[in-house]
Amino acid sequence: MSRIAVVTGGTRGIGEAISLALKDTGVTVIANYAGNVAKAKEFEERTGIRTAQFDVSDHEATLAACHQIEADIGPIDIVINNAGITRDGTLLKMSYEDWKKVIDTNLGGCYNMAKATFPGMRARNWGRIVNIGSVNGQAGQYGQVNYAAAKSGIHGFTKALAQEGAKFGVTVNAIAPGYIDTDMVAAVPEDVLAKIVAKIPVGRLGHAYEIARGVTFLCSENGEFITGSTLSINGGQHMY
Ligand code: CAA
Repeated sequence: MSRIAVVTGGTRGIGEAISLALKDTGVTVIANYAGNVAKAKEFEERTGIRTAQFDVSDHEATLAACHQIEADIGPIDIVINNAGITRDGTLLKMSYEDWKKVIDTNLGGCYNMAKATFPGMRARNWGRIVNIGSVNGQAGQYGQVNYAAAKSGIHGFTKALAQEGAKFGVTVNAIAPGYIDTDMVAAVPEDVLAKIVAKIPVGRLGHAYEIARGVTFLCSENGEFITGSTLSINGGQHMY
């Protein structure tokens, strides 16, 4: 029987590339999405990958959705915590709602997904959790105290949970993408983005499939001795 993976935010951007890449390795993928029903429908029809709508920042909804997936399809072996949002603005302009929404989604989502699936992985002595962090969680970024705090938190969460899973065949790793050519990065003002790209040694934005390749490696049997690590895929923007 093939492994079963849930990719949060798995129908668009980096998540879409991850869903497709995992499917190519023979994994049964369920791509989660929060709100963009039209895009999810189009994704499902085009790829044949099943989708599941729930908000990862909602604790009860995430537990219920994962239990439903396990009842319908089978035990979840692999979780890719990719769902993430931005609400950029300098601290002076950032509302409490914009702070909380980003923390609850980007970091809270990791807790909620792990809470739903980690006990089963541990009991079955095999699991893979890959959390998508960010170069901006490693280096900080002007106008992103919420996002940088959440992504930085993801890196700490990864190292802590890795210690809890290590004896049970459950690896927990993070990938820290740099600036990737997705809708999220396209939303950065053009002049600001040009200055950022100018500082990337490789001289370009990354592609979503370049992150997905890292994920499939970490999820493979070849990744079994890698846990608690952060793989930076950022074109040399930040050498950590
Ligand atoms: N360092 C220091 N000063 C900076 C700066 C920086 N990096 N960037 C801008 N400033 C300065 C400007 O020069 C300007 O100064 P003056 O007023 O003296 O001219 C001032 O800050 C502008 O401040 P404002 O409060 O007016 O800024 P704003 O409200 O117009 O915009 C912002 C602020 C929304 C944060 C905008 O700068 C922005 O969108 N920045 C990009 C943030 C970013 O990189 N987001 C990444 C999104 S993608 C992602 O997050 C994916 C991933 O993981 C990599």
